[in-house]
Amino acid sequence: MLELELEDEAATATLARSLAAVLEGGDVVGLEGGLGAGKTTFTREAVYGLGVGEETPVTSPTFALLHQYEGRLPIGHADLYRLADEIELEELGLDELVHDGAVLFVEWGLKFPGMAARTAVWVELEILSDDARRVRLRAGRARGDAIISALSRGLST
Ligand SMILES: Nc1ncnc2c1ncn2[C@@H]1O[C@H](COP(=O)(O)OP(=O)(O)OP(=O)(O)O)[C@@H](O)[C@H]1O
Ligand SMILES: [Mg+2]
Repeated sequence: MLELELEDEAATATLARSLAAVLEGGDVVGLEGGLGAGKTTFTREAVYGLGVGEETPVTSPTFALLHQYEGRLPIGHADLYRLADEIELEELGLDELVHDGAVLFVEWGLKFPGMAARTAVWVELEILSDDARRVRLRAGRARGDAIISALSRGLST
């Protein structure tokens, strides 16, 4: 587990981009935290960290449920908040994306046990003030420990 205080949005951006640097195809990143905690903001910065040009808008997949990008790897960004059941989840095709080597960012993935089981690393955001957030990075599976170790090394250099 890695716990940090992010004093402002720039700190969130730095962490997200550092995480992006150590991600590999097939990694699922689960983003948790209440409304406005910063899940989409964190994902946007990670998407840019994966090499997507910053002229590309990265917005909440609230209605489309899934947005896709091409960086150094294919990228998916899903928001499962409005998803009703496992059948709809299946139809989104996230499994295929991951299987084909995409990095997947999932907001509200804890709602679905199947999705949660695939999640390598959890990014849990908590609001401390208007600008500050607490973040906990937790491994969901063995790959998550490797991600967090590599990230910690990256942050300390
Ligand atoms: N340190 C910070 N890190 C991330 N976002 C911050 C920070 N400080 C302020 N913010 C602001 O908080 C808001 C976070 O919104 P965002 O859409 O990323 O949240 P979310 O967790 O995805 O919410 P939702 O559950 O609605 O999808 C943005 O307006 C962002 O500018
Ligand atoms: Mg969001």
